[in-house]
Amino acid sequence: MKNVHVESTLIEHRRFPPPVDLSTCSHLGSLEQYEELYRHSMESPETFWAEQAGQLHWFKKWHSVLEWNLPDAKWFVGGQINLCHNCVDRFVDQGQGDKTALVWEGEGGDGGEPPVRRFTYRELQREVSVFANVLKSRGVKKGDVVTLYMGMVPELAIATLACARIGAPHSVIFGGFSAQAIVDRVEDAHSRIVITCDGAFRGGKTVALKATVDKALSMTGQVKEVICCKRTGAEVGWNAGRDHWWHELAEGVSDHCPPEPLDSEDLAFLLYTSGSTGKPKGIMHTVGGYLVHANMSARYTFDLQPEDPDELHWCTADIGWITGHSYVLYGILSNGVASVMYEGGPGYPEKDRFWQIIARHRVTKFYTAPTAIRTFMKWGEEHLERHDLSSLKILGTVGEPINPEAWVWYHRHIGGQSCPVVDTWWQTETGGHMLAPMPAAATTTPGSCWRPLPGIDMAVVNSAGDEVGVNEGGILVSRRPWPGMLRGVYGDRQRFIDTYWSQVPGFYTAGDGARRDELGQFWITGRIDDVIVVSGHNIGTMEVESALVSHPVVSEAAVVGFPHEIKGNGLAAFVITKDTKDADVSASVLRQALIEHCGQELGPICRPDSVYFVEALPKTSSGKIMRRILRDVAAGRPVEQDLTTLDDTTTLDGLATAAVLQQA
Ligand code: WT7
Repeated sequence: MKNVHVESTLIEHRRFPPPVDLSTCSHLGSLEQYEELYRHSMESPETFWAEQAGQLHWFKKWHSVLEWNLPDAKWFVGGQINLCHNCVDRFVDQGQGDKTALVWEGEGGDGGEPPVRRFTYRELQREVSVFANVLKSRGVKKGDVVTLYMGMVPELAIATLACARIGAPHSVIFGGFSAQAIVDRVEDAHSRIVITCDGAFRGGKTVALKATVDKALSMTGQVKEVICCKRTGAEVGWNAGRDHWWHELAEGVSDHCPPEPLDSEDLAFLLYTSGSTGKPKGIMHTVGGYLVHANMSARYTFDLQPEDPDELHWCTADIGWITGHSYVLYGILSNGVASVMYEGGPGYPEKDRFWQIIARHRVTKFYTAPTAIRTFMKWGEEHLERHDLSSLKILGTVGEPINPEAWVWYHRHIGGQSCPVVDTWWQTETGGHMLAPMPAAATTTPGSCWRPLPGIDMAVVNSAGDEVGVNEGGILVSRRPWPGMLRGVYGDRQRFIDTYWSQVPGFYTAGDGARRDELGQFWITGRIDDVIVVSGHNIGTMEVESALVSHPVVSEAAVVGFPHEIKGNGLAAFVITKDTKDADVSASVLRQALIEHCGQELGPICRPDSVYFVEALPKTSSGKIMRRILRDVAAGRPVEQDLTTLDDTTTLDGLATAAVLQQA
């Protein structure tokens, strides 16, 4: 086990008590209420989770809450449930069919008002049922993995819920990923059908989604069928036997399609996430446990108030990430609260777009990422001036540690000093929030994710599993199973065990380092392994290194993160080139070519921010790259490590020279 160092020990003293006016209507109105519920959930976990599950509609009740056989958990065993039914039909059945479920705003930007589409629960039920019948008519059955590669249009939510309705696990791929990413994922999941759009509007440009799907499908024979939703109206390539327009298939199709009762442990979806080795992991979530956790966490963390007709939640994440799954769709809709979906970029047509949206729709709960907050800080407060943000009640953040300055800016300028900021720690693998301030109960400290949610048993331990001391760095673990936990890595049992269950005996390891302060608050110190969180997205260094080495002039590459003002972390690539006859190509041309190449292979998020050409990489005598040295060089820090294991100190001089050259 590697040592886990607390990299930033900046001590933050500012404290923010919860606003008093939240406490009267809140689920957890005071610290005492939180502590009481937390104690109950630890003393009688099965009772607690059964109470939570009781918030949902089950076709058939479970016979046991938990069957735990490390590392395999089964929750609500014997129960039957449907995600879509709980997010849509349940509210229609309760006489709330006319209540708003989804508010979608398109990017627009050509001068006039942007397009807005609203769906009541009844309308959503209709649309979802029609598309579920379309899927059935194309032969999609319970258990078939359906791949979605779309922009943020209502049809993405509709298709996702339609899959859930018929028990076909969805695999949503973020619409910014490359053709190769689609190939890897459809092959891994054995998915024979892809749903896409002609294109997407983003940041004033159109993204050619269908063309990327076409390119991907020219590289694999896995996919037999494509359903294409028309959005941009762009010309698209067409493969007659394979491709169908959504609107043509949906014509005249019945809007009656009863939701399929699924076993609690049936697969709900796959969501691929980068790992430290090249291949992305298909994280498996199952129906019952995932929904209980998404529902419970959304209710407590955002203090959702379905009775309040003005309640409107906006999570800015794309549905292609777990944040979008849990807090655009499942967690929010299953609480009977309306959810905003925005199609486009934050800076289009002007840098005040998000504030316009909040003011136009009167958003009450707003959830975004530190990388976005830092961007808004950089853009300046003048973009806020003309907008009334007084509807806001709670602000959330997720994806990476938020630096206290950004936290305080968010609190002051977006929240008008009256909204609690909930810094939520969780992962694709956890399904829902694990650490987060309960907004009406917690006095918060900028930079800390506060304490575990009720039912969640997080701790900071050493590699033997013992809790470390106050403010001592350690490994962040969950000591008990929880309903939203991943059930496996699709098709790779060993990787599931190695990644999550092998570092500390008996506990789930998240791969993050953390410490707990004297108030019991958690502070995340970053990834222990070699995954770098760039703009809130987990980027595996190995993937980027593999992409670099796939370029004809590169012989070896190492990628590390370095602190980046906007993205949290930037990617620095150290590259050894081959001696080829093209050696006279200038370094700047080659640097640009390599950056583009990574963008092509992996998607734009994976473009290195800096590329250093080096003669050699610092390695131990056993051949392991010493990444700490590279991190220092990339961050412009003096190299202050113990170099006794370094194989060749001359490498270091070469690296220092490379760093100077890069800056020049
Ligand atoms: C990793 C999970 C969960 C949705 C977004 C990312 C980092 C996430 C926080 C936070 C510090 C955070 C961790 C975690 N992370 N939230 N509030 N403070 N770090 O999902 O791609 O599965 O990434 O993101 O390192 O392990 P993901």
